[in-house]
Order: sequence, then C-alpha cells, then structure tokens
Amino acid sequence: MGRTFIFMHFFVVCLFFFCIVECEAKQSLAPALYVFGDSFVASGNDNILNTDAKANYAPYGIDFPNGTTGRLTNGLTLADFYAQWLGLQVPPPYLLFNQTEKHTEGFNYASGPAGIRPETSTVDHGVFLSMDKQVELFKKTAQEYLPTLFGNPDELKDYLSKSIFLVVIGRNDYTQNFLSPKYNSSSKWNMKQFAEIIVDELGSKILDLYTVGARKFLVFEIDAMGCEPAFYEKQKNECSDKLTSYISTYNHKLEVELQILAKTVRGAIFALAKRYQLMYDLVANPARYVH
Ligand SMILES: *[C@@H]1O[C@H](CO)[C@@H](O)[C@H](O)[C@H]1NC(C)=O
Ligand SMILES: *[C@@H]1O[C@H](CO)[C@@H](O)[C@H](O)[C@H]1NC(C)=O
Ligand SMILES: *[C@@H]1O[C@H](CO)[C@@H](O)[C@H](O)[C@H]1NC(C)=O
Repeated sequence: MGRTFIFMHFFVVCLFFFCIVECEAKQSLAPALYVFGDSFVASGNDNILNTDAKANYAPYGIDFPNGTTGRLTNGLTLADFYAQWLGLQVPPPYLLFNQTEKHTEGFNYASGPAGIRPETSTVDHGVFLSMDKQVELFKKTAQEYLPTLFGNPDELKDYLSKSIFLVVIGRNDYTQNFLSPKYNSSSKWNMKQFAEIIVDELGSKILDLYTVGARKFLVFEIDAMGCEPAFYEKQKNECSDKLTSYISTYNHKLEVELQILAKTVRGAIFALAKRYQLMYDLVANPARYVH
C-alpha cells in the first residue's frame, strides 16, 4: 500500500515534469518573437512619439479585438499573426510596456515611418524609431531588462538563441528618401549604389543583434510596391517599371547579403521571406486568389 502510494506519487511527479517539458513545447514553437520594422508591423510605439504618422484613431483597428491600438491596419499585423502561429502572445509595443512587469515573450520595436537609413522619413514625419534606434532599444532590453528575469547568463543566452527576430523594413528608404527630392540620396548615389548601401546597413544592424545574442532571423523582402495604387501605371495598366526594378535590385542584394551573413557568422539562421512575388502575382493574376 505504502509502496504503491510512493509509486503513484512518483508517477504523478513524472507526469508533471513530462508536462512541463512537453506542454511548453506544444504551447509555443519559440520562447519569444522580437519585431523590428515599419508600418507593416508597427503596433503602437508611435502613439507616444512626436510624429504625425500615428494610427491611434478610427477607423484603424476596426477589426482588431481590442480596437484602435496604433497599428496601421484594420486588424492584426503580419507580426501578430506570426506570433499567434508560434503560440506566443502578440508582442507588446516596447515603448508602451510597463518595464516593472515581467515579460519574456518578446517586444515590438517597430515604428511606422522607420527606414534603414536614419534620415529616412525625418523631413516629413518628425521623431520616430529608425532601425538603428530600434536596435539600440533591443540592446537595452537584452542587457538591462532581460537579465533581471533570468537566473543566469547562460539561460538568457539560450533563450535569445532560440528566439525569433523578425525584420520588415526598407520601403520607406525608397518612398521617404531615395524617390523624394527632399532628401539628397538620389543626387549622391544611383539606384544600384543606394540598394547596396541600405542592404549593407541592414546587414550591419542584423550583426548588432547577433552580437547581443540573436541567432534566428526572419527578414522580409520589400513588397511589390510598384503595384500599389499610388505607383500603379493606370494608363499602361501595369505595375511601375521603375519601382519594380528598384525593389527587385534591393531584394536580390538582400538575398545575397543574408547568404554572406550565413557563411560569416556562426550558429545563426537567416531566412528570407519572399513576399515580393506573392504580392506581384496577386495583382497580375487576381483570379487565382478568388475562391
Ligand atoms: C487585448 O487586451 C487584453 C487586456 O488588456 C490583453 O490581455 C490582450 O493581450 C489584448 N489582445 C491583443 C491581441 O493585444
Ligand atoms: C507599472 O506596474 C507596476 C507593478 O504592476 C505598477 O505598480 C505601476 O503603477 C505601473 N506603472 C504604470 C505607469 O502603469
Ligand atoms: C541635404 O543636404 C543638405 C546640404 O548638405 C543638408 O543641409 C540637408 O540636411 C540634407 N537633407 C537631408 C534630409 O539629409
């Protein structure tokens, strides 16, 4: 009787531990999602910044469970969907998060007008978080906030190496910099040089994240901007040739850069999210997507 009890007890304890390991694995595919980027993934940091590029009013968020949040969309962003798919909480916007609370599932540093280059968008949109500011904030998170939540540096290192770093940026470097006469970049560089420069800069920001402990990167191409209503060539009934060539050049260089990074740094994974062709095809062959 006594032995059975001990055995049962042991069995229950085993189940409990089994569940800690197994249930955690089932609940989420990664311990955290850290988000960097522009209006595709911004979720509220801009609400408290001195920028006119806010989205914290109706009808933004009309389909979002919690209403208007600062997302530049009716509902969830692609980063939110991805977090849910991973089994994680939607990452809170870093600047709105109360730092006295404990949170290890990741943050969102994105900002609507953000570009890779620090001057991108500044002429029109004031103060926001460019890519270098976002990376600085993550360093602060990794070096000051997270260490208070982990028992020792190895645990933190392991956690960071399993976390996913999602980056969606680059289009504003065209619309709010290279293509705008308010900036000097198009008089200094041609289209190929500019793509080279911003891809290099993005690569160095990714390396900064790596240096702090990030290992799993999911980097998005720029989408098929030339097919958006603002740039679509209505007379010819086709996507803008000029933008298509700019963005294709950037995306190709980005792919090469990620391949180089994968060869240069140890123990990291770089995935390129090929969204360009997906969007291009959506515009070119809409019938394929109607069910
Ligand atoms: C909605 O708000 C509730 C309560 O503040 C919060 O717990 C929840 O995470 C929010 N949902 C999303 C998707 O942000
Ligand atoms: C932050 O959270 C702490 C602890 O939950 C709370 O005491 C404090 O009032 C919060 N601060 C703000 C600004 O909400
Ligand atoms: C463009 O160049 C001028 C002259 O060097 C400088 O004053 C201005 O700040 C630059 N504009 C931007 C957006 O960098």
